[in-house]
Amino acid sequence: MNEELNEVYHKCIEYSNKIKNPILREVVQTIYEDYKEELMNKPATPGSHHYFKGGLLCHIYSVTRNAIAICNLYPNLEVDMDLVIFGALTHDIGKTNDFNDFIESENYNPNASNSFALLGHSYEGAHIVENYLAKYQIDEQFKNQVVHMIGSHMNEYSEWGALVLPKMLEVIIINFADNIDAHIEPAHEIIRNAKAGELYKIGNAPRPYYKSLNPNYNKNNQN
Ligand SMILES: [Fe+2]
Ligand SMILES: [Fe+2]
Repeated sequence: MNEELNEVYHKCIEYSNKIKNPILREVVQTIYEDYKEELMNKPATPGSHHYFKGGLLCHIYSVTRNAIAICNLYPNLEVDMDLVIFGALTHDIGKTNDFNDFIESENYNPNASNSFALLGHSYEGAHIVENYLAKYQIDEQFKNQVVHMIGSHMNEYSEWGALVLPKMLEVIIINFADNIDAHIEPAHEIIRNAKAGELYKIGNAPRPYYKSLNPNYNKNNQN
């Protein structure tokens, strides 16, 4: 598992190398060095998605891959790929402060969250990134745009929500990339072990999930 996680970590570093702005590239790579242990050990969201050791890192990797894929599907958007990649790679960095490490024997226990959860991961992440950016000479408004990627990535005000609603195309892409991964992973986790007709639970929304009854169904996605 650790080998696999190391590979995912290096793929994230490869994505960070695509960032052209040297300050953003250096900041994300420094954050990845400083938070490596947390990224490799924390789950993404207990009770919702990627609840396993290193789930946070695996989720972040998939969101970055998804965000780049979305940009490739819409080549005329003229988005800033630096902001998309930087934002995707750091969007949930605040969860390193929000949640305890994954413990195999425990189901999610909200009381096991760190006290930082009082502030929420959007705030925590924006705060972390802003602190790293503060060491550089950088245009104030551009700095706000970078921090906006983290602070607004949840797209709406809610318990887990955003500090501010998205005001840039780049973070709208990150939000959709994030949602794709946060919904597909737990549904797949449930459905791959599903028995017909049983009720399974994702997060706070119990509902049944079904596998296709199509006689031509090919589980390898081959058409
Ligand atoms: Fe998030
Ligand atoms: Fe996320």
